[in-house]
Amino acid sequence: MQQYLIKDLASYQDKEVTLKGWASNKRDSKGLAFIVLRDGTGWCQCVIAEEIVGSNKFNNAKRVGLETSLSITGKVVKDEKQIGGFEIQATDIEIIGESVDYPIAKKEHGIDFLADKRHLWLRSQRQWSIMRIRNQITFAIHQFFQSEGFVQMDAPIFTGNACEGTSNLFETDFYGDPAYLSQSGQLYGEAMAFSLGKIYTFGPTFRAEKSKTRRHLSEFWMIEPEMVFHDIFDNMDLIEKFLRAVVTSVLDNCKTELEFIGRDTTILQNIIKPFPRLTYDEAVEIITGKKDVNGKNAIVSLEEELVWVNNKMAEVTKEIAEREEKIKTPGMKKGEIGFNQAKIDKLKQELADLEEQARNIPQWLNSARNFEYGNDFGGSDETVLTRLFDVPIMVYNWPHEVKAFYLKRDPQNPAFARGVDTLAPEGYGEIVGGGERETDADLLVEKIKEHQLPMEAFEWYLDLRRFGTVPHAGFGLGLERLVTWICKLPHVRESIPFPRMYGRLLP
Ligand code: 4AD
Ligand code: MG
Repeated sequence: MQQYLIKDLASYQDKEVTLKGWASNKRDSKGLAFIVLRDGTGWCQCVIAEEIVGSNKFNNAKRVGLETSLSITGKVVKDEKQIGGFEIQATDIEIIGESVDYPIAKKEHGIDFLADKRHLWLRSQRQWSIMRIRNQITFAIHQFFQSEGFVQMDAPIFTGNACEGTSNLFETDFYGDPAYLSQSGQLYGEAMAFSLGKIYTFGPTFRAEKSKTRRHLSEFWMIEPEMVFHDIFDNMDLIEKFLRAVVTSVLDNCKTELEFIGRDTTILQNIIKPFPRLTYDEAVEIITGKKDVNGKNAIVSLEEELVWVNNKMAEVTKEIAEREEKIKTPGMKKGEIGFNQAKIDKLKQELADLEEQARNIPQWLNSARNFEYGNDFGGSDETVLTRLFDVPIMVYNWPHEVKAFYLKRDPQNPAFARGVDTLAPEGYGEIVGGGERETDADLLVEKIKEHQLPMEAFEWYLDLRRFGTVPHAGFGLGLERLVTWICKLPHVRESIPFPRMYGRLLP
């Protein structure tokens, strides 16, 4: 069977093809029906004329509900004005599966409604675009590591120990004993690197994050390279080269998808610029407004923005009221009412976004003003810091108390650990966490005790230090965090086909 795909229509210009897919849009006028068919590879308008297909088939076409599955045969005609650049002049149409009252309409739906309908929402052009970008990122990640000589290895999902602290472990029953769903493959990655030199894992990880934030999932995919004979600086060089390769691959291969979701790619193109490397101390000075970045002060710019947001809110509120008043005018044409109503809907969405900013900015200001030296960064601190940058930044040398037990203590200054976080710009914050590993078994034992972790579960890990330890380092990239930034999504939930997070297990 020859299968014709919408993405390949250019090779069939002026020929007859049969396309199979779903009706993503439909309108009709006298004697003509227009169905926008989507087949997973693209979108294409099909014109069904009563005088060509006959009145029976035409009436069927007119009754097609959104997301009805169809087979349409017709001639491929070039038409630059149409989505995809081609149109089908149908000679035949067959209905495969009916769809009556498809729940997702063209109007704005609330996010909870869409999340409940995730299994259908995935069919939208925006979600299609995000998923294809996610796919490109996955492909580029494998391409990068494979071409750099890394070996892909899989870490277990059932684990007997906590890699990233005990506060967010998912406990399960493993033949009567407790086991935890993996928070990170890193400890196993270290063992595998001591066999293969440079490895990376790419697997699901689990964290019970009992709060709703725009950055946290309960189940997410992590990419964790681990390299022997690497220190923190080699690690930073690799993070930078890696992210540059992945973002470049998306820019080169996902132009249509980025356009569909309306992503301004100017900032993504900055990925060729060096990533600023800041110590924790420098980053804290920036967050607390003691040090400017590119002439911008974190606190002052937030204060200014709050004023702007409040003014804009007043403006938008006024325009909504005016238009609502206007459509009440007696005798107004249906078209004009529709036009104004659409404007009102758009303005209300804009107002909701502004209101969210008006709620957020004071919180960000508050946490920046009250930041206590020595603390880890919270989501707000990361936002305050990264809004000032137009490329990812790397923050290294963290107070050792706030970071994981396995990080190497800085030999020059033992109050600090050689961890490095990479934060995406535009307010997105942490996308990569990593660092150089502690090689001293005694220091590790001390740390395991300090973190109140069960020593017996880490005996095997300590063996890596007892039998031929070497300097080594690695990092973990959260796939969904990267998708979220690259697509500039408001929330991480849209970056994964079926998000699992606090309060969401279905669909
Ligand atoms: O910073 P984290 O906790 O680091 C580790 O797990 C290390 N063991 C990695 C390593 O060095 N091999 O997590 C790494 C990344 C974060 O930077 C973030 O991108 C992502 O994982 N991440 C989450 N993504 C979505 N939802 C969550 N709840 C996440 N928690 C971490
Ligand atoms: Mg982290």
